[in-house]
Amino acid sequence: MLTSKLTSRWPLAAALLLQAGTTLAQAPAEAAAPAKPTGADTQVMLFWFLLSTLLLVLLVFILLFTMIVVKMKPQLRRLYELPTVHDTWSGKVVGLLVGDTALVVGKNKDELMGHDYDGITEFDNDLPPWWKYGFYLSIVFAFAYMGYYHVAHAGQLQLAEYETEMRQATLLVSADADDPNKLTTYTPLKTPADLDAGKTIFATNCAPCHGASAEGKVGPNLTDEFWLHGGDINHVYKTIKFGVTSKGMVAWKGKLASKQILQVSSYIESLKGSKPAGAKEPQGEKEL
Ligand code: HEC
Repeated sequence: MLTSKLTSRWPLAAALLLQAGTTLAQAPAEAAAPAKPTGADTQVMLFWFLLSTLLLVLLVFILLFTMIVVKMKPQLRRLYELPTVHDTWSGKVVGLLVGDTALVVGKNKDELMGHDYDGITEFDNDLPPWWKYGFYLSIVFAFAYMGYYHVAHAGQLQLAEYETEMRQATLLVSADADDPNKLTTYTPLKTPADLDAGKTIFATNCAPCHGASAEGKVGPNLTDEFWLHGGDINHVYKTIKFGVTSKGMVAWKGKLASKQILQVSSYIESLKGSKPAGAKEPQGEKEL
């Protein structure tokens, strides 16, 4: 009856873990959804809150379990020594709990194999269980690995991974970034973290001339379809980096890092069509 008590614990633990796994899997997926930056912030906080609560519950559970095992060690040992329990799977779990090291390192029979080569003899011992199960595990792993990478092609192998990262790097460090006559080839950043950073940069550096909502003051409205110097991300990037100094637009090169300029450009792209109150009249040419 003790075994049944102990084993009935495991389905419960498994159910708990499974539930935890699904909440963990869901949280990042929700956070990745195109929510408003503030919403994403609370979701990230909620995720960490749930995770730490879960870890705390798990810790308490492990602690309680250890206390029970320590308290009941003599009874468990007697149970383990029953011949009907000793060699079953649940019996082995009990054996591990009471610290039977033979279950891990094996038992040496130390009987000689009966051959002798120049005085070198050989024992007929079993493989240690830790080695044997490690070997089985590596076989399972090998099949999973092969299925994932070579059959389903679900993951990238080293070479493909390397090439992807190099491509991403060339996008960020555009070779033409320092030539005012050549356009960069950036695409707008989309992550809430980057847009938040862009918003902060805008509020501190640009709002005095372009307005808090980019509605336009001394500088033009940056939310409409009219642009003096081009409204796509790379034209906006260029205007911000090199400025239009003769017309009062500061050149931010050297004051903001390339990454920051890209963040604030992406933030401006995200404002398109936001129609802020008190918008300045259109300047420049209409772009779609
Ligand atoms: C000192 C005032 C001032 C500040 C500060 C300023 N701008 Fe400007 N900005 C201007 C003016 C004036 C223009 C219009 C230039 C022209 O007429 O060609 C302009 C134009 C622009 C344009 C081009 C708009 C178009 O229609 O093509 C962008 C983009 C821009 N600013 C972004 C920014 C960003 C981002 C910042 C902050 C990092 C910033 N500006 C800070 C005054 C400013």
